[in-house]
Amino acid sequence: MKNLLAQKTLQFFVKENQAARSAAEHADIIAEPGFGKHFTDHMVDICWSEMGGWHRPRVQPYGPIELDPAAAVLHYGQEIFEGLKAYRHADGSIWSFRPEANAARMQRSAARMALPELPTEYFIEALKQLIAVDSRWVPSAKEMSLYLRPFMFAKEAFLGVRAAKKVNFYVIASPAGPYFAGGVTPISIWLSTNYARAGKGGTGAAKTGGNYASGLIAQQEAYEHGCAQVLFLDSVEGKYIEELGGMNVVLVKKDGTLVTPESDSILAGITRDSILQLAEDRGHKVERRKVSIEEWRDGVASGEITEVFACGTAAVVTPIGRLVGVDFEAGDADAAAGPLTLSLREELTDIQYGRRADPHGWMMRLDA
Ligand code: PLP
Ligand code: COI
Repeated sequence: MKNLLAQKTLQFFVKENQAARSAAEHADIIAEPGFGKHFTDHMVDICWSEMGGWHRPRVQPYGPIELDPAAAVLHYGQEIFEGLKAYRHADGSIWSFRPEANAARMQRSAARMALPELPTEYFIEALKQLIAVDSRWVPSAKEMSLYLRPFMFAKEAFLGVRAAKKVNFYVIASPAGPYFAGGVTPISIWLSTNYARAGKGGTGAAKTGGNYASGLIAQQEAYEHGCAQVLFLDSVEGKYIEELGGMNVVLVKKDGTLVTPESDSILAGITRDSILQLAEDRGHKVERRKVSIEEWRDGVASGEITEVFACGTAAVVTPIGRLVGVDFEAGDADAAAGPLTLSLREELTDIQYGRRADPHGWMMRLDA
């Protein structure tokens, strides 16, 4: 019963936006998009119901979603999302990076949040359908992209606490420049000790709104301390590093070993997985294990840790210059970005933008 659409053809109904932005408005936005501020002219919308499975796939004008005030998402937060990008290559073609991995992660998030799993082929087809009508929004300037935001939430109007029987999946898209205003300039990170992002058996590994909502107060603290992101520790011992509010973290040791936290309460980042693969391809040792906050702090002080970086779709690879806690600071805000950080970033973005070979078959064409 779950996937009626599986038996139907994936025939999207397309309703073009008659009020699409003019060429002049489009040019202004594309010239300086910022991050997550402007949206394309269309969006994807697919319905799901317990009885009918996935149905009514469509592309429609971008605009408000009508919701009953009793819609379950507004009360119990039954929601998940994804984030990936479309890149324009030099020949004009449009590609995305490992979209099947995002589809699979969304299925895992759905399973955790008692939402229906959207089959990978629908996820990919939704991206292709949106690109087919909004291709002009994929920027061609260096390091720019179209950020794609698939999301799904409980639409059923019902105040009982149980998994909703009516859900919608959407994709919206936003032309994007760097997430951090400084680009690849090293950022400062605030160590949160008052708040945890996720607990044992909780939803930390799912990409669900509540994880971000619970981190906002810590992110506010980070801003108050002049930091761009917040680092969370594990909630059991308060000792091991987990991840940042919206990205994973990797430490580089002086012998070239890359170390990253292993935890079942953090998001399995696709950027991190890819960067670590590229590092392994180069012969670097990679350790996925528990990493204590002392290891970071003392390692930076002793010179054992030579580089630290954040990674994620929005952040790409961003050097971390300084870690700030209530009673300590490690690193240097003005330090230059680490050489391995920069070269892995370059290798990854070269693959994403089609500037070098793609040995792992990570790229998928969206406009053909
Ligand atoms: N961790 C969190 C909490 C995130 O929001 C993100 C961003 O999506 C990541 C890690 C990195 O994941 P990815 O590299 O798949 O974008
Ligand atoms: C992403 O990198 O796609 C995210 O979802 C993180 C957020 C900080 C924008």
